[in-house]
Amino acid sequence: MESLKKQVGYASVNYIKDGMTVGLGTGSTAYYMVEKLGQEIKKGNLNITAVTTSKKTAEQAESLGIPLKDLNEVDWIDVTIDGADEIDPQFQGIKGGGGAHLIEKIVASYSNQVIWIVDESKMVNQLGDFPLPLEVIPFGHQKLEKILQEKGYHPETRLTKEGQLFTTDNDNFIIDLHLKNITDPHALAQELSQLPGIVEHGLFLDMVDIVLVGRNGQVETLK
Ligand code: 5RP
Repeated sequence: MESLKKQVGYASVNYIKDGMTVGLGTGSTAYYMVEKLGQEIKKGNLNITAVTTSKKTAEQAESLGIPLKDLNEVDWIDVTIDGADEIDPQFQGIKGGGGAHLIEKIVASYSNQVIWIVDESKMVNQLGDFPLPLEVIPFGHQKLEKILQEKGYHPETRLTKEGQLFTTDNDNFIIDLHLKNITDPHALAQELSQLPGIVEHGLFLDMVDIVLVGRNGQVETLK
């Protein structure tokens, strides 16, 4: 699996051209894309500016000498390359396994092109087996969890390995919904967007242009 992630992460750098402003995703697959991008910049093959989607990616990119800018400092992003947790046949997705989906969604929404890089295990027939992350503000989060429980959404506030409350880069919490099947992602997205306290849900709908899938040692391009 790790070698598929590396293969697909490295292959995605072919979509980055000289002079571009590039959105850098978060996660173990995006890690390899950033690694390869750093190598190409170091060799002098690429001259780009990047906007990152998390503190972790920013640290990695900085350590590799990738020039970074804040989203406010760029006009637009040419391409954003990011991982995903689940992708259905209509290219709808779940993100936020790493708790970075709020910033990932903002960066994607200011991008001309969005590319997801995944190994084959992320391709599913229906979304929902992977818990759907919600970034929520700490104020009243237990009340929100109760409402989500009453709706039958099986919420669980995310904890760290040490059993502490997981906090995002924006000092918010994550509630994961254990839904198993999401039959109507658009309806669910609309419902969740209307609940006060939810800053952003991890449903990424109608946002991706190209999916690169690592399958059987090859990189498949889906458009
Ligand atoms: C982080 C994300 C990641 O892109 C997603 O979790 C996929 O990560 P990985 O490539 O490690 O499986 O959405 O918030």
